[in-house]
Amino acid sequence: MAIELVPLPLPASADASKFADFGREVKGVDPGNLTDDDFKKIHDGLYKHGILLFRNANMTPEQQYLLTKKFDPQSESYGHGNNKTGETKKSILHPDLKTIPSVPQVQLIGNGTVYDHWGLAEAKLKHPSHTTFHKTVVSPEDNDKGVTRFYRWHIDAALYDLNPPRVTTLYGLTVPQGPTQVCRYDDGTGDELPVPLGTTAFVSGKTMFDILPKEYKSLAVRTKVKYAPHPYVWMAPAKAMSTGLGIESEGLELPLDELPPWEEAKIKLFPVLWKNPVTGNLHFQVHPCGAQELHIAPLPSGASLEGALYPNGAKITDLEEVRKILYKMQRPAIAPSLVYPHDWKENDFVLFHNRGVLHTVVGAFKPDQVRAFHQCNLAASDEPVGPSEEDVDAWA
Ligand SMILES: [Fe+2]
Repeated sequence: MAIELVPLPLPASADASKFADFGREVKGVDPGNLTDDDFKKIHDGLYKHGILLFRNANMTPEQQYLLTKKFDPQSESYGHGNNKTGETKKSILHPDLKTIPSVPQVQLIGNGTVYDHWGLAEAKLKHPSHTTFHKTVVSPEDNDKGVTRFYRWHIDAALYDLNPPRVTTLYGLTVPQGPTQVCRYDDGTGDELPVPLGTTAFVSGKTMFDILPKEYKSLAVRTKVKYAPHPYVWMAPAKAMSTGLGIESEGLELPLDELPPWEEAKIKLFPVLWKNPVTGNLHFQVHPCGAQELHIAPLPSGASLEGALYPNGAKITDLEEVRKILYKMQRPAIAPSLVYPHDWKENDFVLFHNRGVLHTVVGAFKPDQVRAFHQCNLAASDEPVGPSEEDVDAWA
């Protein structure tokens, strides 16, 4: 049977014109047993469409790891380093991850208690909730009515020392069904999005760039983001905005001298725009929570100065200013019409281009609702590639 790529069903909230290339269901192939020829099609399909979904998959942790690794054969360890169960206790990621003992690159994530699971006798899982991360929270009454929030828009990446994984695989083993929830933005816009219970929401980094006005495209193509050392420890005391798209600037981040030991050479300075290795498109890939500084290059010679932002370049180190600029550029792309909230079914296997999309956990479960997913991504063997000289000339 030939491999078929079929558009993903979009919710009524989505602007279909913005999803023409985004997301495909893959039919006619078992993701656990791909021939080299099959893999080539999956590989190129992933970079073209950002997300690939395989329904009714049957994947062992080993098979999931091997498929994830196929996208970057020289990669070895989990995106945040292996064995997350026991280490970096102060990191905000710590409670969300349980490592599969036999395949430490695969993490068990979800909600409720899971027993006798791939070498884990008992794993207590907790679906991340905005209530522990956002500055403001949905009231208990609204929560009971099914109102929720985006938890944290992000790229899967350590953002310190290790390189951002090229792809992430998510495998839904136990998926509780329940009523639809309403994801509220609570940012004064009135925006809200109906979402399936426990959805993973995705937006396209390409769209995030494409919809920017000209002067912000010019800024994006010239800017690099410097991330904080140990960003998930650094941000742990701070609180997020109600959209989950970055941190409120209240000076709560841990001072750099109170972080675990770090060195300047391991700090990450990444371009705002990452070049898609198959299509050549530019994707706006910034993890807003971890950003610490913006380094902006001057306009290239010959570029129009009209309306230009930071025409002479700049190094922005004021955290509030850094976040304001990023938010202005990223917020338009999480508008309800641009979000793809995946409606998980049991045995859905989702492969996404971690260097081309942003995603977030959404929703809230009750403690007795059991959800079990396997997640795998691998710290990449290379850094993301930024805009080429031609890209800068075209957009600056
Ligand atoms: Fe993630």
